[in-house]
Amino acid sequence: MTLEKILQSQGFGSRKQCRQLIWDGQVSVAGQLITDSDEDLPCEGLVFSVGGKEWTFRQQLYIALHKPPDYECSRKPSHHPGILTLLPQEYVNRNIQPVGRLDHGTTGLLLLSDDGGFIHAQSSPKRHVSKTYEATLFEAVTPQLITQLQEGVKLIDEDKPIAAQVRMLDTHLLELSIDQGKYHQVKRMLAAAGNHCVSLRRSAIGKLTLDSLGLPMGQWCHLDPGQLAQLV
Ligand code: URA
Repeated sequence: MTLEKILQSQGFGSRKQCRQLIWDGQVSVAGQLITDSDEDLPCEGLVFSVGGKEWTFRQQLYIALHKPPDYECSRKPSHHPGILTLLPQEYVNRNIQPVGRLDHGTTGLLLLSDDGGFIHAQSSPKRHVSKTYEATLFEAVTPQLITQLQEGVKLIDEDKPIAAQVRMLDTHLLELSIDQGKYHQVKRMLAAAGNHCVSLRRSAIGKLTLDSLGLPMGQWCHLDPGQLAQLV
């Protein structure tokens, strides 16, 4: 692919803007300045730098973000900054999107991608990808609460009761795994079971845990094929 097309595919602007970056001497490949925007290069494994910053060519983006509180997942956030402000503008230019949403106050593991097929597959209810949350509760956990959640609680706009896999982590801390991603689902399930969620953290999606990524809050990383395979 020509260098200008490579830069465009990676989110560095229009063909014209990318050409200009190259002509301005901003782009190097393997430490060598390239000023010919038509230079043909293999994309696979290509490492290049723009304005002194290093990038790796990526056909598609698969990112895990440790979402902090008080960030909105919506593309047009209204009350808090959007999560996309935590990512490089080049990825936003590539139309990267969150896979599902977390409430603005919820923290934890959030996936983002520019691969529409991946986003669709991950969000599909048919795939039953479980999501695990740690919920800090207002009232202490009781055996009745656990049984109720395991047997299923009825949410007002759902036909059938929804069940969760539940584990008590502490007197006021519960781990819940659910297959669906309904609006405010965990909070509404806990409210329907007679308790109240004080704070919520998503600790895993499928078998991929936030802890295994070692990401500080607000930080993100690219997922490798092995990590993507754990999203089941
Ligand atoms: N359930 C909720 O209630 N909120 C979230 O952010 C995610 C799941």
